[in-house]
Amino acid sequence: MRISIFGAGFVGVTSAVVFSEWGHEVELVEVDAARREALERGNLPFYEPGLEEAWASTNIQAVTAPNDPELIFVCVGTPSADDGSADLSAIEAVASATARLRCPIIIKSTVPPGTTQAILGTRPSGMNPEFLREGAALQDARKPDRVVIGATNGEAREALHQLYSHLDCPIIDTDPTTAEMIKYASNTMLASRIAMVNELGNVCQSVGVNVDAVMQGVGLDWRIGPHFLQAGLGFGGSCFPKDVHALRALARQHAQDTTMMDATLRQNDLQPATAVDALREVHGDLTGARVAIFGLAFKADTSDIRESRAIPLWQALQAEGAEVICYDPMANEEFSRATGAQVVDLETALAADAAIVQTAWPEFARIPAERWPATVIDGRRCLDAQTLRMAGKKVIRTGDGSPA
Ligand code: UGA
Repeated sequence: MRISIFGAGFVGVTSAVVFSEWGHEVELVEVDAARREALERGNLPFYEPGLEEAWASTNIQAVTAPNDPELIFVCVGTPSADDGSADLSAIEAVASATARLRCPIIIKSTVPPGTTQAILGTRPSGMNPEFLREGAALQDARKPDRVVIGATNGEAREALHQLYSHLDCPIIDTDPTTAEMIKYASNTMLASRIAMVNELGNVCQSVGVNVDAVMQGVGLDWRIGPHFLQAGLGFGGSCFPKDVHALRALARQHAQDTTMMDATLRQNDLQPATAVDALREVHGDLTGARVAIFGLAFKADTSDIRESRAIPLWQALQAEGAEVICYDPMANEEFSRATGAQVVDLETALAADAAIVQTAWPEFARIPAERWPATVIDGRRCLDAQTLRMAGKKVIRTGDGSPA
């Protein structure tokens, strides 16, 4: 099939590469000239493991307008508006730019329930949500755990079946509004699960046990399952916070109570400060203390700092009067640009009075124990606490109150 994908972001580029690997003729329609030129030189505008290499082995063109496609995908951004709702202006722009084309047009961007029907309902169209995780996007796109097809008519449904039917996973055929709701409900449930695990982790820490041991026991219940039970300093990224806010805004428009979504967002707002409390407990007054944040990306294997918990952590430490320095293997530049924070190299960060580990970068676990600052708050439990303690460091692990 000839496929035109609008939007050279993380979802658009990943989908383009994988559809091309499946033998389709793919082009990426991107309005930003700098992005297009970078793609033509083989440079992706963001970091995603393996994607630049995979892109290089395709012949996808970055173009300004579609050339006679048989199927269109819309993968443009839907950022949060001021009231938390999703800003749909980029989707509307693609809808009007393609109004004269007769082929099916499918939205992959995360949009509120009702959007596809309202914007594209008179055309052959559909909603086909993505469930890609940053850092594992190629793997998730090549081998999805499910495909959701919410088509408005037979032509769109058939095109999507043709694209996905070779995959060995369940395909859910539904209407666009259900497909849109599946995406929001998935992210909201995952976000609330993390908020719950974090709250339980805080209790574990207080009662002297390790949340990982507790979650191992909990996750063996088949109704719960073992995944996504990692307590830490909260969730970030471009999806969970935005999508929970958007679904909550939509629920409120329908006069629905949002107790669970409110609690999820509130727990996530409060969680980074637990690391500051822990540090104060060991170190005392933080005025003038030189504290290094290790990990600025919202999770490992990405340079993305959107909604990273490093941002509220940095703010909370400053409010305590600490001198805050920040280090990340990949996201120093982004973080300093977005926040104005003082970013430093690894050596300088290790020379601080105290460290708070915010992102579970595997390379942090490889730093020899003696090189760490005297006090370490391991917000993701990714370091070997015993070795650190043997090297004379004071260590507190978020969610782990088990005896040292
Ligand atoms: C998330 C979903 O997992 C994807 O299925 C979805 O497609 C994507 O949003 C999206 O809507 O586009 P992503 O934001 O890339 O993917 O990252 P996750 O791996 O889900 O992590 C989100 C946040 O939760 C991170 O800050 C991570 O550190 C945190 N997290 C995750 C935990 O604190 N504990 C866990 O057990 C898992």
